[in-house]
Amino acid sequence: MDKKKKSGRYSRIYTQLEKLLEKSKDTDARMATAIALLHHKMAYFFWTGFYVISEGELVVRMYQGPVACQVLEKGKGVCWEAVNGNKSILIDDVHKYSGHIACDARSNSEIVIPVRSQSGEAIGVLDVDSTELSAFDEVDVEWLEKIIGLINS
Ligand code: SME
Repeated sequence: MDKKKKSGRYSRIYTQLEKLLEKSKDTDARMATAIALLHHKMAYFFWTGFYVISEGELVVRMYQGPVACQVLEKGKGVCWEAVNGNKSILIDDVHKYSGHIACDARSNSEIVIPVRSQSGEAIGVLDVDSTELSAFDEVDVEWLEKIIGLINS
C-alpha cells in the first residue's frame, strides 16, 4: 500500500479507536479492541497480536490470525530484541533474520513495537506479520506507536 493511502487509513483507524476506547479503561479490553480493528482494516496484516512478559517469558495475549507460538524462547527472535532494546523493529524479510521464531511459514515480513509501563520500561510487544515482503515501513511504526499510546492513555 502506498504511504499516503496507508497514513489516511491509520488516521481513520486512530479516530475510530479513540471513540471505541472511551467505553473502558480495562487494558485487556482495549488491547483486544485495537487488535480486532487493525487486523480487519489492514489487508496486509496476516497475524496481529500482543506478547507480554510473564514470569520472565514472552507469552502470547490477544491476537487475530492463525494459531501462533504461545511462548517465545527467551532472548531469541524479533520480539525479544524489541523488548531488550526497548525499540520498534522492522524486518523486511524474516527469512534473512537470524534467530527469527517462525510461528507460521507464510509470514514474510514483520513489525514489532514495544509496549511500555508508565515508567517507560518495555513490558511486552505488539507484533504484526505479513505474507508480503517489506510490508511495513516508518508509517506503520509511527501509527502503531501512537495506537499503543492510546491504549495506555
Ligand atoms: N516473530 C516473532 C515470533 C512471534 S510470531 O511472529 C507470531 C519473533 O521472532 O519474535
